[in-house]
Amino acid sequence: IWPSEEVLAYYCLKHNQMFRGLAVCELGGGMTCLAGLMVAISADVKEVLLTDGNEKAIKSILIQIENWFVVFIPFYCILRWDNETDVSQLEGHFDIVMCADCLFLDRYRASLVDAIKRLLQPSGKAMVFAPLRGNTLNQFCNLAEKAGFSIQRHENYDEHISNFHSKLKNEEKDTYEENIHYPFLLVLTKHG
Ligand SMILES: C[S@@+](CC[C@H](N)C(=O)[O-])C[C@H]1O[C@@H](n2cnc3c(N)ncnc32)[C@H](O)[C@@H]1O
Ligand SMILES: *[C@@H]1O[C@H](CO)[C@@H](O)[C@H](O)[C@H]1NC(C)=O
Repeated sequence: IWPSEEVLAYYCLKHNQMFRGLAVCELGGGMTCLAGLMVAISADVKEVLLTDGNEKAIKSILIQIENWFVVFIPFYCILRWDNETDVSQLEGHFDIVMCADCLFLDRYRASLVDAIKRLLQPSGKAMVFAPLRGNTLNQFCNLAEKAGFSIQRHENYDEHISNFHSKLKNEEKDTYEENIHYPFLLVLTKHG
């Protein structure tokens, strides 16, 4: 589990009123889908779909959850950004699509932009947390703008996270690498 997923989970808990009555999808949730789970348990949400492209990741979520809260199980599915069937089945279905640390995969970046665009309904928005990881966050933003998204980019979106970031930069110099650990927040909306 990457810091972006933890920060997304924290952000969702803190702002859980924004999900009221909405359909939410987490893409590339990995081994935990922690953020999507936090939405499911804390928000008055219409539905939450927790997804990843890796069958093993989805299985690990099932195992982890089975002892805990069985009712979540039907909401997990495999969704590959580059799989036409997966994306077209849910076209225009979501008010909010979110993902954490999924922007650095060169091979799938364009599919991710396309999947976000198609899964969202016209007035929907995407909430993306990811570290810079070289130039990969910028590359994602360029593709998303070309695809017609407006992007708000936030480096400081939460006082607690900013303070924690400063603390880690000073006190954990050996292990904390801003470039791969500190998540930016991108909010994507469709034009028009
Ligand atoms: C760096 S991990 C991030 C996982 C989690 N969000 C986190 O931050 O801990 C990237 C995730 O993207 C998923 N992924 C990669 N390519 C994908 C694709 N084409 N379709 C769907 N998911 C994909 C991987 O299975 C992996 O779980
Ligand atoms: C796409 O996903 C479907 C299931 O949703 C699967 O049957 C199919 O084989 C996948 N296609 C590719 C090209 O991976």
